[in-house]
Amino acid sequence: MERQELSQLFKTVRQKTEDICSPLEIEDYMPQPTIEVSPPRWHLAHTTWFFESFVLQKLEPGFKPFHPAYGFMFNSYYQSLGERWEREKRGWLSRPTVKEIYGYRHEIDHRILQLIEKIRDEQLPVLSELLITGINHEQQHQELLVTDLKYILAHNPMRPVYNKIPVCYGTPEDKPGSTFEFFEGNLFELGHTGKDFCFDNEQPSHKVFVRDFRISSTLVTNAEYMVFMESGGYQDFRWWLDEGWKEVCRGNWEAPLYWHKEGTDWYEMTLNGFRKVDPDTPVTHISYYEADAFARWAGKRLPTEAEWEYVAKMLNPLVIHGNFLEKKLLHPFAADKNKGSRVFQLLGDVWEWTSSAHLPYDGYKAREGAIGEYNGKFMINQMVLRGGSCATPQTHIRHTYRNFFHPEKRWQFTGIRLAESANS
Ligand SMILES: [Fe+2]
Repeated sequence: MERQELSQLFKTVRQKTEDICSPLEIEDYMPQPTIEVSPPRWHLAHTTWFFESFVLQKLEPGFKPFHPAYGFMFNSYYQSLGERWEREKRGWLSRPTVKEIYGYRHEIDHRILQLIEKIRDEQLPVLSELLITGINHEQQHQELLVTDLKYILAHNPMRPVYNKIPVCYGTPEDKPGSTFEFFEGNLFELGHTGKDFCFDNEQPSHKVFVRDFRISSTLVTNAEYMVFMESGGYQDFRWWLDEGWKEVCRGNWEAPLYWHKEGTDWYEMTLNGFRKVDPDTPVTHISYYEADAFARWAGKRLPTEAEWEYVAKMLNPLVIHGNFLEKKLLHPFAADKNKGSRVFQLLGDVWEWTSSAHLPYDGYKAREGAIGEYNGKFMINQMVLRGGSCATPQTHIRHTYRNFFHPEKRWQFTGIRLAESANS
């Protein structure tokens, strides 16, 4: 990538993170209400630390750390980079102040831009590769910022509204009917090919055989999910994996995260405020266990990640469009018959749980050095999600992108698409 293009991309993505924080009051930067939710101030500092540690430390002549304690405070999980502050205690820290963290960001931004301008031609490809990784890392944290902010605000009894733009994400006039679309089985290339950026868990690409299957043309809606709830879905162990049933009992689950019953109606906390659950929008903030239980109750199953990617590559080989972060809706939208064909909302709106575990592809090699800790060590006890959500930056997603979370997690925009084997 050329220097100017690299600088522009870097500045745009870094600014976007700050734009996400622009509606916040200073106090909103601090809370960590649960272990997986990091304080917004931590995201701002950690993404900056990533550029400082993985780019400047390696390539900046005469590198000196911005502050001797920041490496310890803002390293997330990179064991090769030394000791770090415990994840569950990120909310303990009131210093550096938010103002100092913004100062840290702007100083590192300046040094990165200087480096792009001054680095020798022969080192530019190395710099470019490291920066593109850092930019993609920043985009992942943009999504986490949005979902962490939602958790923070949604657990506040005052129900603060993050997104003051009026949003109506309800029913379009032209709803597509829900069908199960047939796909003929075949050998196909699973994973990323080509020279553009991807994470290491998307490679190596390899041939996979999928059998004939059908996949739902639409995501499971709130109305459909409410039928499961009203039929006693959360009270009947038969639909649940053993570990899932334990979570239901332990957490007293009776609805998706952020849902509240008032009288006979269900309401949900959104980033656009507290509102009545819309029947036509895709259900979201669902754990893998709930997605799996719903599928079993419905007599279907979740798609495998190979089936999902097969459909994505066949229907929409190049184009990425949908309800992503850039749309600023920050909530899944009801399907519109005029926006898609055969399979709706495959990209954007909600991450789709697959039945595939996050495992290495055959021949997987973690990258050299600390960056090799990015994905490889998380290939255990987590499930793959596909397609991106309304909080994912559009330029971040790919048909081959493998997101992964533990099966009980619900704070991401996660939803359900059903599938079935063609002989069932
Ligand atoms: Fe990170």
